[in-house]
Amino acid sequence: MAALTPIEAAAEMAALAQQIAHHDRLYHQKDAPEISDADYDALRNRYRALREQYPHLAPKDDPEQRVGAAPAAGFSKVMHSIAMLSLNNAFTDEDVEDFATRIRRFLQLQDDEALAFVAEPKIDGLSASLRYENGRLVQAATRGDGTVGENITANARTIQDVPQTLRAPYPDLLEIRGEIYLNREDFIALNTRREAEGEPLFANPRNAAAGSVRQLDPSITASRPLRFFGYALGQIGTNKLGSQNDIRDHIKRWGFALNEPSRLCRGVPELLAYYREMAASRYALPFDIDGVVYKINRLDWQERLGFISRAPRWAIAHKFPPEQAETRLNKIVIQVGRTGALTPVAELEPVTVGGVVVSRATLHNEDEIARKDIREGDIVRLQRAGDVIPQITSVDVSRRPTGSKAFVFPDHCPECGSRAEREEGMAVRRCEGGLICPSQAIERLRHFTSRLAFNIEGLGDQRIRELWEEKLIQSPADIFRLQRHRAMLEQREGWGEKSVAKLMQAIEARRTIALDKFIYALGIRQVGEATAKLLARHYKSFANWRACMMNAREEGSAAWNDLIAIEQIGTLVARDIARFFEEPHNTKALDDLAQELTIADYETPAADQESPLFGKTIVFTGTMEKMGRAEAKAKAEALGAHVSGSVSAKTNYVVVGADAGSKATKAKELGVTVLSEDEWLALAETGRNMQKTPNNR
Ligand code: IVH
Repeated sequence: MAALTPIEAAAEMAALAQQIAHHDRLYHQKDAPEISDADYDALRNRYRALREQYPHLAPKDDPEQRVGAAPAAGFSKVMHSIAMLSLNNAFTDEDVEDFATRIRRFLQLQDDEALAFVAEPKIDGLSASLRYENGRLVQAATRGDGTVGENITANARTIQDVPQTLRAPYPDLLEIRGEIYLNREDFIALNTRREAEGEPLFANPRNAAAGSVRQLDPSITASRPLRFFGYALGQIGTNKLGSQNDIRDHIKRWGFALNEPSRLCRGVPELLAYYREMAASRYALPFDIDGVVYKINRLDWQERLGFISRAPRWAIAHKFPPEQAETRLNKIVIQVGRTGALTPVAELEPVTVGGVVVSRATLHNEDEIARKDIREGDIVRLQRAGDVIPQITSVDVSRRPTGSKAFVFPDHCPECGSRAEREEGMAVRRCEGGLICPSQAIERLRHFTSRLAFNIEGLGDQRIRELWEEKLIQSPADIFRLQRHRAMLEQREGWGEKSVAKLMQAIEARRTIALDKFIYALGIRQVGEATAKLLARHYKSFANWRACMMNAREEGSAAWNDLIAIEQIGTLVARDIARFFEEPHNTKALDDLAQELTIADYETPAADQESPLFGKTIVFTGTMEKMGRAEAKAKAEALGAHVSGSVSAKTNYVVVGADAGSKATKAKELGVTVLSEDEWLALAETGRNMQKTPNNR
């Protein structure tokens, strides 16, 4: 590392910070990590090492100063009264010794002064803070970035272990912090159900718990057997308690479950004995644990020790090493997900790792296979780090069968034969046959019939699934030929004459469709409602659009240049559109559909000119929370506004998101109208309502 120049170090740190932020978002907001915990730790360790040597080069978005990831959009935000922190990790006995030594030194304790810790299991779930006022639950929040979390009150109320009212006596104000988690059996049952329903599986109980809590619809949360235990206090409107054990006793008395078995340990040898016992008996517990946590028992000491950046000095998580095993990789199969992503999966000779029989492992993506040179027939080393789906860490090349060949990743979809392409800079290869690929069909049909697209009432998720499974609807055009099966449908359970008649009517009503809705319904990647409108506005008719898009398949052609010249359509979006048209399965499905429909030419709505945004110049600055910048711009342009990058006296509106900088200040100086994100959305909504024309709705 000494060989790095400052410029190289800064560049590497910035790149690492970006990757860490990306993986934090996947883990904390999407509950769908792409890399193993071990790979993530490796990124963080490399970053930490660089940062120690070059602290002055740390990028602005310094991962060491941040806990988790900012709260996801969709939930309102909650500011934590007292920050919610994370824990530092210990992996070896030595790390635990060092932890105790640091504490002794910090507190300047004599060698013979006893150091007592509360040791407890560490369940990998989702941490939450529950606020009780006068004994009633008033708010529940996730950790978020430690300072601001998501408001999950409605969801937390559905969790059995979370009392609505405290058991008396209690202080007027009380915040209980703890972990929302799933028992192992409940987790397996949940995944089994999801598999049967064709839903993607959760990688581990932590993701399942987090995914269940982060549901905008609390009835979904309620259907998951979530549990909660308390392990700490936040704000509390009463005299401080004396010890961590005292806190545990009180948490229990107020009506919460505790994480058991816990033990008061005096000194490091007792901690390590607890650790070994827990490691040996972890599978006898009803939930998965990934280590144990040690906390200094005396609260006055906890207070003196305080925090460094993201974690307390007075506590540490002692993690279990990931379990490993060796087995033969029999075959690499390619699965196609609902969004068309091709995922390689290893079929293994069954083997027990960490108490679970494993016969499959994810290989993540094409690059991962190449990087580790994983081949069919290889003896591979597996690791299960709390995850149900284990990782392949390495290949034993010395035992490779003779004549083995490097794995060639398919460039066509194994499900439908369409081309499978990689986007620039992306690891994932995707099937381009979105309209006909069976793995994507249900998702696409659902989008096609959804409210903002064809808006066909009476064709909900369940019916789409039923009709698709029975091969009555295979591609969107089939919806408009459903009439042929009318008599048969009327006989069906749960349908009946009346509801079939209604559905047929709803379908017929959409045989004429506005061009923008039609384009949106196709589900071309990155072509949302606003972009579809821009395209419709520009190309006017379906025939013209189709012809131009066929010509735009060639980058640099006149048609391509015309496409990217549309304000708000960049090369990445244009490429996705071109890819859609490159796939013959798609154009066939498109033409088939066009045969069934009357696609109305786009008419510039007369009301456009009355839109409050028509002809106005607007500048967006700061982070938008309800929609991305690109979408906001597209929306403004669709309403006839001109979007500019800089503020001048000619600017009519400046929309300021979070963390807006100099542009907001300049707007104020120039006396330009400044709008908050909500005000802008309201203005845009007024404009949209004016735009509604009969052929549009
Ligand atoms: S104490 C200020 N105790 O692990 C210290 N955390 O990796 C707050 N966790 O953010 C944490 N079991 O979500 C504590 N017995 C336990 C825990 C525990 C699981 C979680 C918690 C924390 C994360 C750190």
